[in-house]
Amino acid sequence: MAKTVLIGSQWGDEGKGKIIDVLTANADWVVRYQGGNNAGHTVEVGDQKYVLHLTPSGILRETCKCVIGNGLVVDLVGLMGELKALVERGISLDNRLFISDRAHMVLQYHKELDGARESNREESEKIGTTKRGIGPAYCDKADRTGLRLGDILETDFLDMVKTQAKVKNKILTGMGADPLDIDQLLEQVKEAADYLRPFICDTIPLLHKAVQNDDDILFEGAQGVMLDIDFGSYPYVTSSSTGAGGAPAGSGIPPNAIDRVVGIVKAYTTRVGEGPFPTELRDGMGAHIAKVGNEFGATTGRPRRCGWFDGVVARYAVMVGGINEWALMKLDVLDAVETIKVCVAYECDGERIETVPASIRKLGRCTPIYEELKGWNTPTTECTTWDELPEQAQKYIEYLEKLTGVKIHILSVGPRRSSTLLLER
Ligand code: GDP
Ligand code: IMO
Ligand code: MG
Repeated sequence: MAKTVLIGSQWGDEGKGKIIDVLTANADWVVRYQGGNNAGHTVEVGDQKYVLHLTPSGILRETCKCVIGNGLVVDLVGLMGELKALVERGISLDNRLFISDRAHMVLQYHKELDGARESNREESEKIGTTKRGIGPAYCDKADRTGLRLGDILETDFLDMVKTQAKVKNKILTGMGADPLDIDQLLEQVKEAADYLRPFICDTIPLLHKAVQNDDDILFEGAQGVMLDIDFGSYPYVTSSSTGAGGAPAGSGIPPNAIDRVVGIVKAYTTRVGEGPFPTELRDGMGAHIAKVGNEFGATTGRPRRCGWFDGVVARYAVMVGGINEWALMKLDVLDAVETIKVCVAYECDGERIETVPASIRKLGRCTPIYEELKGWNTPTTECTTWDELPEQAQKYIEYLEKLTGVKIHILSVGPRRSSTLLLER
């Protein structure tokens, strides 16, 4: 059975939640391995829509077990709210959800610090974070002062929180922000800790057993390669390793257990938050894509910036992500576009460049070199086979495969499970 990692290959929101949900029909386990509730993964099942932030998308298939791995930063109160809402909608969590005792926690002070840091930045320096405390929580992890989920199992857990909160209050007031009411914080934390305690365990042996049993395991990436702390458009990135390399580090499974990496990629590009975006469309076409694609952040509701498919970014994602196959998403959003442009390289300082530069200033100076393709002007949402796709849509798919050197095995033409084609050609 496969051990598959699914990663976002652009700036996030590619449709990872949908594809995880489609593939979990055959999966035994779904494992999240990085990020936190900055993620928003949408799954539409029949007339029901779910947006998952920390819970692996496999929770919606009752045959599937879910792991929140050690690589995440977990907002205790946020996760409790998300799980309670799932239970209210009839989803069972018993013996299906396992939270790593090594995962770090996000507490209210991380969120306050996230907000305070953003408001202290000059307008041009703002990252546009989700304000979910992600950066500050990963800072504590690297600083070795973070609290982990396993600490909840200790009798002096609330004292640990109190000690940390006192330190963070000093930092907050130093930044001109209000300090937290520590008693209120402790009350909130206690309630969430009590709710989550039964799910916390050592997930490392659990996953090793699953690997030994040759179970089918899906690793659900969050964000995307261009938001990766090392490979992304630094500093306009998130604070974790979003690529396939993050999966072993953030779950404890051995790297050589992974045998398949699926890159999730939109038929165009979007980005929320600040930072350079070479193929961004600031015109009517950008607005058309945003409207048809309903491009609003699943976590913050912010409008997503939209642009043409960026072949430089996609090839780079293949390179650093080890992508063996694509899931091409939201093809239907381009159904009514007359002429489609694709970026094949950048021009920067009078030079043609084929890969993503490290320097954010340089990326900001890159302008896309485009090739144009004719659109198909036909609805694709009802298509269920390759042969039913309009000829120009087939040409677009084959063009992207050639440009990136990777085959498209999954094609998505609508948000529902049923609008998914497995391309066997
Ligand atoms: P994720 O963060 O990568 O899981 O993606 P999001 O859930 O943030 O954003 C993807 C959005 O596109 C969601 O609203 C999905 O319901 C929707 N979606 C996914 N696939 C398709 C598709 O093929 N066509 C259309 N029109 N919408 C899609
Ligand atoms: P999914 O998993 C899109 C972006 C934020 C901001 C930057 C840093 O749904 O694809 P952070 O709060 O992480 O410190 O913000 O990263 N960002 C995302 N953009 N999709 C996401 O997740 C994102 N998670 C973070 O907008 O630009
Ligand atoms: Mg999302």
